[in-house]
Amino acid sequence: MAIRKIARMGHPVLREQARNLTPEELKSPTIRQLIQDMVETMEEYGGIGIAAPQVREPLRLALIGYDSSNSRYEDEAEEEEDQPLLVIANPKVTILDPTLQGYWEGCLSVPELRGYVERPRKIRVDYLDLNGKSQSLEAEGFLATVFQHELDHLDGVLFIDRIKTEPGKTRLAFTEEFSKYDVAGEDEEVLED
Ligand code: NI
Repeated sequence: MAIRKIARMGHPVLREQARNLTPEELKSPTIRQLIQDMVETMEEYGGIGIAAPQVREPLRLALIGYDSSNSRYEDEAEEEEDQPLLVIANPKVTILDPTLQGYWEGCLSVPELRGYVERPRKIRVDYLDLNGKSQSLEAEGFLATVFQHELDHLDGVLFIDRIKTEPGKTRLAFTEEFSKYDVAGEDEEVLED
C-alpha cells in the first residue's frame, strides 16, 4: 500500500515505449501491488486515469475510473455515466469513428497546464483484464478521449504533443490563466487525467 511518486514531464520514462505484460505477470504479487498502488496514487491526486509509466514503470498497463460526483470533474462529467475502475493491459486501439472531438486536457505528469486536443470520437479497445483475460470495449465522447490520453502514455506520448497550435489562439495555458481569462470556448469541455 503506497502512493507512488508521479513522473513529471522531462522524466525519460514518460517517453519510453512501454512493454507488454504476460497474463502470468498480471496475476503476480508484484503487478497486483503495482495496480493497488496506482489506484491509491490516482485517488490521492484526484485523477480519472493513470498509466504505469506515470509511476515510473514502463509497462503497458493503465487504470481508468471516475465517479461523476468527483467534485474536480463535476462540470465536465456531470452528464457522463460513472466509469467503474477498469484495469487495462496490453491495449490495442481501433478507431471506429475518426471524426475529431476536442477537449481541454490536463495530466498529472504535466501539472498546472491545460491544452486543447482533438481526438477521434469513437474507438474500440482490445486488452487484457486483471486476470489476463482478453476483453474488448467501445468508448465514445468523453470516455474515448480519456482512454486515448491514458493509452498514449504507453507509447511515450503526452497530450502536449497533440496540441495543434494556431497563431493568435491560446491552445496551451497555465491552469490559473486558463480560469482567470476564461480561455475555453463555450462548447469546449475540460478534462484532467
Ligand atoms: Ni496523462
